[in-house]
Amino acid sequence: MNSQQLARRMQRVRPSPTAAISDQVRTLEAAGQSVINLGEGELDFATPDAIGYAGIAAIIQHQTKYTAVSGTQELKAAIAGKFARDNQLRFSPEEIIAGSGAKQLIFNALMATLDVGQQVIIPAPYWVSYPDMVSLAEGEPVIVACKEQHGWKLRPEELAAALTPATRWVILNSPGNPTGAVYSAQELRALAEVLSDHPQVLIMADDIYEPLRYDQTPFSTFAAAAPELAGRTLTVNGVSKSHAMTGWRLGYAAGPAWLISAMQILQSQSTSNPSSVSQAAAAVALQQPAEFLDDWIEILDRRRRHVLAMIADSNALYASAPAGAFYIFANCQALLGRITPEGDTLADDKALASWLLQDAQVAVLHGSAFGTPGYLRIAYAVADDLLAQACQRLLNSLAKLG
Ligand SMILES: Cc1ncc(COP(=O)(O)O)c(C=O)c1O
Repeated sequence: MNSQQLARRMQRVRPSPTAAISDQVRTLEAAGQSVINLGEGELDFATPDAIGYAGIAAIIQHQTKYTAVSGTQELKAAIAGKFARDNQLRFSPEEIIAGSGAKQLIFNALMATLDVGQQVIIPAPYWVSYPDMVSLAEGEPVIVACKEQHGWKLRPEELAAALTPATRWVILNSPGNPTGAVYSAQELRALAEVLSDHPQVLIMADDIYEPLRYDQTPFSTFAAAAPELAGRTLTVNGVSKSHAMTGWRLGYAAGPAWLISAMQILQSQSTSNPSSVSQAAAAVALQQPAEFLDDWIEILDRRRRHVLAMIADSNALYASAPAGAFYIFANCQALLGRITPEGDTLADDKALASWLLQDAQVAVLHGSAFGTPGYLRIAYAVADDLLAQACQRLLNSLAKLG
């Protein structure tokens, strides 16, 4: 097998930069270096025990067979209950699907709806997978650069300018990866007003970071803020970030039955049902009050402040406090063009991230991976002592730049 034997579609997809940095970290660690990884989009918390035990119970009770492709009745009831309780949204079982992570559901939704050349509006900075998934589905990603001074949020006039007759989707992610930006109900309504004139456009609300918010920032999801557009909105969520269950691979989505049914057909011919064990655990996760959450937010908030303090001390990086998720998207433009002790010029954010990995042995991601050059994404969901060490190492390295 050589690369000439690969399908043409492979030219439309790049390996995930987050996975690439994790590979680099593993290589450096294998060479004996002690790298601190602030590149990973994953909470360091353990899945809460009650949820883990629900998974163990599912195994012991032999809930280890195929299930309905779109999820068990119990899980769908728990998902419907979650949407009703937290988002005031009502969905019937035909309007709900569970899959192997939110990622798979987003992929299936795009594959099920995009024809060649149809456009998907993706506000930047964006989660790295959206444009590649759109390209794989033979659609055309239309990247709209949001502004730092607008809190990294898409403005109605920017959305209006990007819409064309070929637009099929607009993707909204709140709280956002990599910026932590959280849209208010009012901001979502203003976007909905623009979309009301474009009935062919579907809206994808990626709410995967929903409960991870600071300073009592309220949460609103698009279908609840703009009920008149709920019939063409797909709300995507999952337990990866809300319950520290990334490895369980369990996401869910709710929207119009015609779309859910198409996603189910694709899923039935690819991955089938998500793991039966994960479904049982997720049903418990979604039914129980998230008592652990206050503690998690307190810990994450402390870490967020720690990184912001490091940024202020650096006199070179700049970032405002993110309202949600666990990333800081720091402006590093003042560092570009500076010279390393080895005599190399840091031409761009990628060179800076790569030098920090070598010199500070701290992994962060370059903003260009998220469609926004001149920034670094610092993920702070790592243990306090490691984070403190990483911040100190970053400060020490930055001070060496000429
Ligand atoms: C914005 C966003 N959406 C979706 C996902 C995928 O989540 P899952 O682990 O449920 O596939 C991630 C994971 O990093 C994410 O950051």
